[in-house]
This record gives sequence, C-alpha cells and structure tokens, in this order.
Amino acid sequence: MTGLSDFFNRPINYLRISVTDRCNLRCVYCMPLEGVAPLPHGEILSYEEICLVARAASELGISKVRLTGGEPLVRAHLSGLIGMLAEVEGIDDLSLTTNGVLLSRYARELKAAGLKRVNISLDSLQPDRFEQITRIGKLEDTLLGIEAAQAAGLQPIKINMVVMGGVNDDEIADFARLTREEGWHVRFIEFMPIGGLQTTDYRLQTSDYRLQTTDSRLQTEELVPISEIVERIESLGILEPRSLDGNGPARYFHLPHAKGTIGFISPVSEHFCFKCNRLRLTAEGKLRSCLLADEEIDLREPLRRGASVDELKRLIEQATEAKPEGHKLECGTTARNRTMCQIGG
Ligand code: GTP
Ligand code: 5AD
Ligand code: SF4
Repeated sequence: MTGLSDFFNRPINYLRISVTDRCNLRCVYCMPLEGVAPLPHGEILSYEEICLVARAASELGISKVRLTGGEPLVRAHLSGLIGMLAEVEGIDDLSLTTNGVLLSRYARELKAAGLKRVNISLDSLQPDRFEQITRIGKLEDTLLGIEAAQAAGLQPIKINMVVMGGVNDDEIADFARLTREEGWHVRFIEFMPIGGLQTTDYRLQTSDYRLQTTDSRLQTEELVPISEIVERIESLGILEPRSLDGNGPARYFHLPHAKGTIGFISPVSEHFCFKCNRLRLTAEGKLRSCLLADEEIDLREPLRRGASVDELKRLIEQATEAKPEGHKLECGTTARNRTMCQIGG
C-alpha cells in the first residue's frame, strides 16, 4: 500500500462518501426552501459501486471513511453498506454524519454492522427554533437519536452546531455547558456560504430570525468567528487543549471538570486547507477534491462500463492531483454547482 498525497504534499487518507442527496429535514444553511430535485435512484451509485471505489481508494492509502448525505439514514438498508465497507481491507475508521432523526431506529444495527462512531448535527436546543432552522424537524427526535447512539456504543459521539449570528449564537453557552453536564462532545462550526443559494433561500421564515447572505459574499452578521465563540465560552471557565479521536479539522478543548470536549471548526476565519486530508464522493459518483470548489471527476461512467480497480485508482489519483491549495472564500468565491446536501459537508 502506498500513501496518497497531493501536489502540495498533503497526505490524503480520508474519503467522505455521500450516499444520497435526499434528506428528511430542510436545514436553512444546507438546502433551499423548495428542496432540491432528488436524483433518480438509477443515477446514484449502488452499494456495490461505492464499495469498489472504497476498495480502490483504500489500496491507495485511504483508511478513514465517513458516510454523509443529504441524510445518509434515509437511504434504504444503510447498515448493509456499512457491513460491506467494514470488510474492505485497510479501512480502520468508519463513521457517519447524520441529523440523528432516524438513529433511534437504526443505531444498534449500524453498530452491529461495523459502524464505529457518529457525528450528529444539532443547531438549537430550543424546540421552536430547532423546527425553524430545520424547517420541519422535531428536536425530540434528534435528542432520542443521540441517546440511542450512546446506548449502542457509537463512540465518541460529536454534536455539530453551525453557529449563525442572530439565529442561534445566543445558545453557545448552553451547548458548552452540556460538555460538563452531559459529557457531550460539542463542535462549534463557522457558517460557510455554499451552493449559490440566494438571499431568499437562506432567510428563515419568521421575522424573529435573520439569516441572509447576499450570494456568496459573507455578511458579517452571519459569521460568528471562532475567536468570538471562544470568548463567550470562556465566561464559563478557561478552555484547556484536549485530544479526541477524529480525522477532521476540529481543534479540541475542555472546560474545567468537563468530561466532554469542545471543538472548533473554523473554515472561514482560520481555514485549515494547508492540512486538508480528504476527497469527497457524491451520491452520483463524482469525485470532488475540495468542498468549496466545483471541479469534479466522474467515476460513475467508468464504473458502469466495468472499469478495473486500477483504472479507478488512476482516476482517484487524478482527482487528488487536481486538489486546489485551498478555498477562496475571502475573495467571495465558493462552490456553486451544489448545495451542501448534494455534497455532504
Ligand atoms: P471527524 O473525523 O469526527 O473529525 O469528522 P469531521 O469533522 O471531518 O466530519 P463532519 O462531517 O462532522 O464535519 C464537520 C464540519 O466540518 C462540517 O461543517 C463540514 O462541512 C466541515 N468540514 C469538514 N471537512 C471540511 C473541509 O475539508 N473543508 C471545509 N471547509 N469544511 C470542512
Ligand atoms: N456551513 C457550515 N457547516 C455546515 N454543515 C452543513 N452546511 C453547513 C454550512 N453551510 C455541517 C452540518 C453537518 C456537517 C456535515 O456539515 O453541521 O453536521
Ligand atoms: Fe480542503 Fe477545500 Fe476544505 Fe480547504 S476548503 S479544507 S482545501 S476541502
């Protein structure tokens, strides 16, 4: 097995696989109000096709795989795919990012199939606000999902909170307290503008909330930089560095006497592109070398004409070589061809 690295000598060992573009929620930062036209079933990769890509990737040195969506758990029999991926030699970390709604139903069987851990999106602890941000979700469902993941032993469980100024930033301390009271691992994520969503798409449907962005140019009100989030949390106590299993860009800390950790993901104010280690596979089989750039390489056509694992490996290497040095959000440039739900974060 050889290691995969890109033009900038970054080791690439992490593949994020989106298994569906469909979702059972409609989070304002991820999807336009009207949703996105879902891909017909025949256009998304089958589980066998996904596994072939994973096999080729693992032969190149990818050892971390995360399943994403849309919402991955809306795809039928996801534990079947987990079981197949768990058999792929060389993959030693198999994880899932989910909104948690269906976890109370599936957590045990996912664990039994070989899933190691889950990251769960949760942007508000207030039922009404949760419903407004997700447009249709019930807070209770995600909370039950978190409990089910804990009971199933899918550890560590990380809670992803996308912080949006004027929308949910008044809950930063409430989330941070849960690292002490419940031992949760909470990550605060800076809001990224992506997918060419227009101002009206981002706007929440009530006058109480503000969430607007003019095309791809960030407005300062939405972006709450990590430095400011840290300041607000430090009113609860001094943060000390701490480590936590994972392959992503988060930096971890903890409050005094807290069992859980606080993570910070700062794609905008202090980006981490210089240590980017990942590729992404979209549900319809496009390999994407950067979350925030539109360039993609198609794997579905080669897969469907019977490409060998070696041919797939060459295409993966090609995508890796094309990986940009970093995003250009500061220049107002972001990905336009897909919304977050069509990439998987
Ligand atoms: P761990 O292995 O648990 O560290 O997972 P992770 O943090 O890589 O995965 P998760 O799906 O929970 O992603 C957390 C957040 O980080 C999401 O908001 C992602 O969009 C963001 N993120 C993850 N990877 C990247 C990246 O390569 N670039 C940028 N800009 N944001 C990313
Ligand atoms: N900005 C920052 N994070 C986002 N996520 C989804 N959309 C955005 C965005 N626009 C996060 C969600 C999810 C993860 C995969 O990506 O919190 O947990
Ligand atoms: Fe990697 Fe692109 Fe994310 Fe930067 S923006 S960390 S290069 S995927």
